[in-house]
Amino acid sequence: MCGIVGYTGINQVLPKLLKGLEKLEYRGYDSAGVYVNNGVNEDFLVREQGRVSMLELATKNKGISGTAGIAHTRWATHGGVSVKNAHPHMSSDGRFYLVHNGVIENYDVLRDTYLKDIKLNSETDTEIAVQLIDKFAKEEELSAVDAFRKMISLLDENSAYGFLLMDRQTPGLLYTAKKKSPLLIGVAEEGNVVTSDAAAMLDVTNDFIELMDGETAIISKDKVSLFDEHGVEIVREPFTINIDASETDKGVYPYYMLKEVDEQAVVARTLSQHYFDEEGHIKNIDSQITEAIKKADRIYIVAAGTSYHAGLVGKRYFEQWTGIPTEVHIASEFAYDQPLLSNKPFFIFLSQSGETADSREVLDNIVKQGYPSLTIANVMNSTLTREADFALPILAGPEIAVASTKAYTAQVIVEAILAYAVGDADIDLKHELARVAVEMQVIIDQKEVFNDIAKTALHNRHSAFYIGRGLDAAVAVEAALKLKEISYVQTEGFAAGELKHGTISLIEEGTPVFALLTQEKTAGLVRGEIAQVAARGAKTIVLASESIAKENDDYILPNVNELLMPLLAVIPAQLIAYYATLDRGLDVDRPRNLAKSVTVQ
Ligand code: AGP
Repeated sequence: MCGIVGYTGINQVLPKLLKGLEKLEYRGYDSAGVYVNNGVNEDFLVREQGRVSMLELATKNKGISGTAGIAHTRWATHGGVSVKNAHPHMSSDGRFYLVHNGVIENYDVLRDTYLKDIKLNSETDTEIAVQLIDKFAKEEELSAVDAFRKMISLLDENSAYGFLLMDRQTPGLLYTAKKKSPLLIGVAEEGNVVTSDAAAMLDVTNDFIELMDGETAIISKDKVSLFDEHGVEIVREPFTINIDASETDKGVYPYYMLKEVDEQAVVARTLSQHYFDEEGHIKNIDSQITEAIKKADRIYIVAAGTSYHAGLVGKRYFEQWTGIPTEVHIASEFAYDQPLLSNKPFFIFLSQSGETADSREVLDNIVKQGYPSLTIANVMNSTLTREADFALPILAGPEIAVASTKAYTAQVIVEAILAYAVGDADIDLKHELARVAVEMQVIIDQKEVFNDIAKTALHNRHSAFYIGRGLDAAVAVEAALKLKEISYVQTEGFAAGELKHGTISLIEEGTPVFALLTQEKTAGLVRGEIAQVAARGAKTIVLASESIAKENDDYILPNVNELLMPLLAVIPAQLIAYYATLDRGLDVDRPRNLAKSVTVQ
């Protein structure tokens, strides 16, 4: 999941590329690089291992000037983390420069077929692509764009790519193409841009043109020429993204994650205002969606990571309020091991980015089978929102930190609202959500409590557990993911009743076990499980809702409707993960090995 930016215009390009890369670093940050051409036969290629800040340092005092360039921040797929594997990749004679997000499945066959006589400088599939472009341009006397297209035509059908190419012989032009890996073309008075994510180029423009699978484009500072997969020129009007560039900044926060945790109460209120009218009736949900779900005999929620965990909670709302049996599936499993489906299934895809390749693979399959689908996402105009029959926004605003927080609670809220719209829940959801927003803020304002808990329970610890039953078990797996993905503490989220069937053997003196207790029906049982692990030396930390709390519990959660308690119980887990990570001196927003949007399978 690499980040790509390019610009060709009237202003100096380097500052724009570096600022754009900073905004894209959440997509991957193993290495980064830029290629700039100043249009008078002078060009610059600079690549560095590590963060964008290292690249920025490397570009200083090099006299880099020019008004057209491309840049890339990498999340390694083919080839290790090194400067030689960093993008942009250059053709042997220094004519072509290419950045790429995706995977070329048949790169080795192409190398062995066409490039036997070429000395390769990297281990990447991207270099194969740029060497092929150069080969076809020379040997078949093709123009840059035709050589580009010929290379693309040779890629295996399962390949995914977002390409951005420059040719030394046409310095002010950008050539771009995509299939499955998102790319947008931004248009502005001062020039035109290409980007993996609009957020990276909001300083230049809010107006973007979708590049669709199989299309190519040639972009100059004052013209965008778009071509379909047959090379026929097409016209597509730009759409406007109503996000201010400042929304993608950290502002006064040390990390995006803390900003995004803080925003959750506001997002909850935003969602209530968007989906309920003054009288508490549902709005902004097309009746076609609710009617389509009512026709279903089974709902299938498909997602990955945190979004999958949001589905585990949403299942309860759909089953309890609509009476429709609901299954929740991990996208990467469902994609290649599709379960026996009901006669009238309805599919709901949950995704913050709307670009997760595992989820897109399932949606492709579902659409081919003719089943109805809805995507609930944060990024509208994304692949999953575009290719499903319906889409509903979670209105969380840009979520930059790799660890998803506000998108999780926003997804859970939209699932509750949708289930409420379809079914006949016996609660006043608008009123209940208003209480949730108030109590969210109460918890968020108690950061020091969670800082203390994190330091006391997790300092120098290398493993931990979150346990719970029912909805608390669903939150436990999300809580565990938060902690492990940013602090690297090996953490398991576990159904409390299951511990005694094997895993309890891992409990030893001081093992931190966080117990979530918000569900009345099973509170007594979980108390028993807390005693079982404590008896074996565990350091238990009990987070209980007020109505079932006991004297020595470590944190008391305010009470809201029990079905909505996951929206509160997850916040301490988010903040404990945040502070445990700070305590370890790690980068909260950019944990190792990860990227924000996993656009490769
Ligand atoms: C969660 O903190 C991670 N960032 C990751 O699990 C993420 O939720 C997952 O990759 C799914 O992404 P999506 O919501 O954009 O589809």
